[in-house]
Amino acid sequence: MAPKKLAAGNWKMNGLTASLAELDAIAARENGCDVLICPPATLITAAVAHSGEVAIGGQDCHAAESGAHTGDVSAAMLRDAGASHVILGHSERRTDHGETDGQVAQKAIAAHEAGLVTVICIGETEAQRDGGQTLDVIATQLAGSVPDCATAANTVIAYEPVWAIGTGRTPTNDQIAEVHALIRETLAARFSDGNDVTLLYGGSVKPGNAGEIFDIPHVNGALVGGASLKAGDFGPIIDAL
Ligand code: G3P
Repeated sequence: MAPKKLAAGNWKMNGLTASLAELDAIAARENGCDVLICPPATLITAAVAHSGEVAIGGQDCHAAESGAHTGDVSAAMLRDAGASHVILGHSERRTDHGETDGQVAQKAIAAHEAGLVTVICIGETEAQRDGGQTLDVIATQLAGSVPDCATAANTVIAYEPVWAIGTGRTPTNDQIAEVHALIRETLAARFSDGNDVTLLYGGSVKPGNAGEIFDIPHVNGALVGGASLKAGDFGPIIDAL
């Protein structure tokens, strides 16, 4: 089995009920590849009714099944609301909430137990890239954030350089290729189906650069932030895949 292609949108903390009109328009552009939209948790149930063939995901979950965790959402709750996927370890969670690789792995185990596909995010900061640490950082995050129960069916890895998120800056094609090759090699060495895991690039993906990024070896799609909010932007990215 070859890795499945996936165009994924992360709406972050954006979107009210009226935004579901964009989801209707995205769902209408179905072109055969897998498409995922991760709206805020408040919209998941409503989004499912607008999603057609588009999968709906959460943006985070707690590692526990239930309990006294005010403001948190469990993997089972996401599943119950109609989600099939969950983003974990996004750099904004790692930065804003101090999430560690170990916590991300625990969340991933909980998500897999609940039947969700995890989209596990990794990526270096600008200081780490400038310091020549990118490959070490990626290897450490992969080892620590991806649990042993990961398979090609339940796990997607998204490489998102922190300095490229929302900045309009992207790595060179060679830089993306180098990191994706490391991720592929690492997964293939650790998991029997590591060659089949879908690998996404994320960070300032736009209609104008998506095609070029999708041509890079081991890039099987994208995790898109800002450009996933409008069907007019996300549609051409889906079409480029
Ligand atoms: O998770 C997607 C993301 O962090 C990239 O955001 O706005 O640069 O596409 P953006």
